[in-house]
Amino acid sequence: MAEALRPGPEAGIRSDDGAWASGGASDPAAYKDVLGRFCTGLTVVTSLHDDEPVGFTCQAFSALSLDPPEVLLSVQRTSTTWPRIRRHGRFGVGVLATGQDELARALARSGPDKFRGVDWAPSATGLPRPEGLLAWIECALVREVDAGDHLLAIAAVGALEVGADDAPLLYFRGDFLAAGGAR
Ligand SMILES: Cc1cc2nc3c(=O)[nH]c(=O)nc-3n(C[C@H](O)[C@H](O)[C@H](O)COP(=O)(O)O)c2cc1C
Repeated sequence: MAEALRPGPEAGIRSDDGAWASGGASDPAAYKDVLGRFCTGLTVVTSLHDDEPVGFTCQAFSALSLDPPEVLLSVQRTSTTWPRIRRHGRFGVGVLATGQDELARALARSGPDKFRGVDWAPSATGLPRPEGLLAWIECALVREVDAGDHLLAIAAVGALEVGADDAPLLYFRGDFLAAGGAR
């Protein structure tokens, strides 16, 4: 039988009417432990700054609207790359395939030369597109919404490309995970 859900280390959250409660949200480690059990794919978000490639690894990406076609990113306020992407206004979202852990690590580093050792080529519109992606989504920033220590970036979708039918790279409980198999 499946293990029963158990309370977090601390009962931290309660709705105003007391109808529900959950543990641990005031403890960042507990928050990460619990929310980290939501498995996601991974993307890299890339753009140009002074004609040089810039980008960052992004887990918090999702489809948002089909009509009009829009996507959503949640971006750390401390990101040094995001202000550069914002200035350019256009960016690409690359969906990572199994085996692209190194690319995910490279673009998660803060600082210059993130693209050193990364295989990439300009997309049709000139954005830096890493090789070996599952999919490529070109976006134009539409608006930003304040969200605590993050901001939500909403972007209109332009060109779309599909890559190999490989399995995706997954992120689960703070670690990279290979998916079961390609379709
Ligand atoms: C697996 C993984 C997922 C990440 N997901 C996000 C994310 O969803 N949003 C975000 O702003 N940063 C995310 N980051 C952090 C950025 O990739 C990057 O480290 C951060 O933006 C600092 O780099 P910068 O100063 O160049 O922006 C993630 C990092 C890793 C390793």
